Amino acid sequence: MPERALARIRPGAVARNCSRLRAALTGGAELCVVVKADGYGHGAVSCARAAQAGGASWLAVATAGEATGLRRAGIEGRILVMGALTHDEMVEALAAAAELVAWNADFVRALAAHRGDRPAQVHVKLDTGMGRLGTDDPMEARGVAEKVAAAKRLRLAGVMTHFATADELGDEHFPAQLERFGAFVARVRAEHPGLVAHAANSAATLRDPASHFDMVRCGVAAYGLDPFGEDPELRDLEPALELESYVAAVKRFHPGQSAGYGRRWTATEPTWLAVLPIGYGDGWRRGLTNNCDVLIGGRRRPLVGTVSMDNVTVELGAEADAAVGDPAILIGRQGEERITCEEVARRLDTINYEVTCGLSRRVRRVEAP
Ligand SMILES: Cc1ncc(COP(=O)(O)O)c(C=O)c1O
Repeated sequence: MPERALARIRPGAVARNCSRLRAALTGGAELCVVVKADGYGHGAVSCARAAQAGGASWLAVATAGEATGLRRAGIEGRILVMGALTHDEMVEALAAAAELVAWNADFVRALAAHRGDRPAQVHVKLDTGMGRLGTDDPMEARGVAEKVAAAKRLRLAGVMTHFATADELGDEHFPAQLERFGAFVARVRAEHPGLVAHAANSAATLRDPASHFDMVRCGVAAYGLDPFGEDPELRDLEPALELESYVAAVKRFHPGQSAGYGRRWTATEPTWLAVLPIGYGDGWRRGLTNNCDVLIGGRRRPLVGTVSMDNVTVELGAEADAAVGDPAILIGRQGEERITCEEVARRLDTINYEVTCGLSRRVRRVEAP
């Protein structure tokens, strides 16, 4: 049955990507899979389960609400909330038995005063050059670690950092961040031998085993998306999401007739168009106006005219070689042809992450084998 806007999600692909990532880890490092933003648009709960089946021993999210959502769905195991937390969010994260990130004494004080039934597991964040969360002063980070270790109701679970340019192969900022973190880890580990040091995102994990430390935090690669924006097949990653619509109408166009708002495409010769009932209300962005292909009948067809909220138009050519009800693939494979998220991202001058995160709730997600 055709469906208006359907994302087919393959949890099996997530599990296989995780197994591959795990196989690449060095020195016994563990795999933490990042399932924030509803699993990068793929569905957090099914992807969390798939990640665990693929060997992930940790999960990470950005918000306390995301941790609660996983627990409510029955997800067990260690969950790290990586984001900044208000007081209420801190309480919520602790209630979800999630681990938290700290980088200043005030937050540690608030944490130490919590009244939960188990000690809070805390990770101290050093900002080695991302310029976002964390303290950029290693002395302050060590001081925060001391305070956590000394607090009765807190446990120093780990130390972490985050790379700004791991996806820019050959840059000099990444090795500099790595060196700063390595020096910090060596010092804190001497005082607190059991902690888990973690730094690598997907790009760092694939780029440099020296970044693996005790654990890597992979998001994008677990979903089979390439962190470097290249074809995922080149790194043996298996995309876990396909986006499908269908041909709702087939129409003949004469020269001079236009399609869509603003008449941004006009027929120059007799041709046929297919109308697909999917649009920017589904996350198929308006920037794709006259700017992407869609697969119908196993062939690439150019999207022509303005992307509207609920419809797009696709040129079939001189022959109306598609019929109402035919499936149309916007991301994924049909016959010999393939459209990757990375291709769509390039068209939009953005990254694959934003393409999948941007698919709206109106797109029904179904699990596929
Ligand atoms: C702190 C942190 N660690 C790890 C990740 C995972 O990154 P990636 O999806 O590039 O693997 C993210 C994602 O943005 C993050 O914010």
